[in-house]
Amino acid sequence: MNRNLALEFVRVTEMAAIASARFMGRGDEEGAFASSIEAMRCMLDSVECNAIVVIGAGSDIAESSSLRVGETVGSGRGPQLEIALDPLEGVSVCAMGGQNSLSVMAIAEKGSLLPTPSGMYMEKIGTGPEGKMVIDILETPRENLKRLAEVKNCRISDLTAVILERERHLDLIDDVRVAGARIQLIRDGDVAGAISTCVADSGIDILFGTGGATEGVVAASALRCMGGGLQGILKPKNDEQETKARQRGITEFNKVFDIEELASGDVMFCATGVTNGSFLEGVKFKSWGAITHSKVMRSRSGTVRDIRAEHHFDRKPRY
Ligand code: FBP
Repeated sequence: MNRNLALEFVRVTEMAAIASARFMGRGDEEGAFASSIEAMRCMLDSVECNAIVVIGAGSDIAESSSLRVGETVGSGRGPQLEIALDPLEGVSVCAMGGQNSLSVMAIAEKGSLLPTPSGMYMEKIGTGPEGKMVIDILETPRENLKRLAEVKNCRISDLTAVILERERHLDLIDDVRVAGARIQLIRDGDVAGAISTCVADSGIDILFGTGGATEGVVAASALRCMGGGLQGILKPKNDEQETKARQRGITEFNKVFDIEELASGDVMFCATGVTNGSFLEGVKFKSWGAITHSKVMRSRSGTVRDIRAEHHFDRKPRY
């Protein structure tokens, strides 16, 4: 994949972030999501590629909108790619003006991203580079924390785990507390939670818990670029989801998917902050336009670029 493509794709997440950030705190999930999709779609078509959406923006609140699985996006010229996208990860966070909503995209060669159906859950564990070789989702949280503390040369009590605040996680939260680690509970947004484990000054060391399977693949793409580790086990909620997954070629449901099986080969990842978060600032609007903050990364080089961009709306009619 041409390395410059990553810089083309960040324009796409920037535009989606600006569109959804207009809805921050306005309590309008539908508006925020629909406008992020529209903006992402509009910008994607200008990128020189022929890409198929393998993880799309399917959701109950934007059922009829585009960017669905199987759609082809891009100008139609250039490399054949596949894309996992989430124009607004953390829809309700954005609508409530909370932390860590993002616009994200992972780009890879065909056949690289596990095509998990939307709505399915995945149990996940994720860490930064130090923990990549020692985490094991089949082990207890205590054992994983012990191993991580050893490789990080610290005490378990120095570690912070990020966990989605859900009833299904009550036992997990207890286990982590008993093991002695600190916890950051998040209302939504475990993609940001996973990425935070690879960002030195985020204060987050490990992600535990069950969240969206599609978010698991998106997070794995980011962590591949950052050298982190992520493992996942698919958790279909019903037969219908299992059938959908089988139709997409996924046949194993008790299997531990390692990061390279979730996102293999050469992967690129872009994320733009919609609201402020642990590693990205949210969109700021000015009289002349907006300022965005993004991360752009590639697995081949491991380069992580922080991009702060000023968008002057009078010179960009699309905004
Ligand atoms: P959406 O932006 O699609 O609403 O996802 C937010 C999110 O918090 C994800 O980050 C997470 O993986 C998933 O929802 C958890 O699902 P649930 O809210 O059903 O527990």
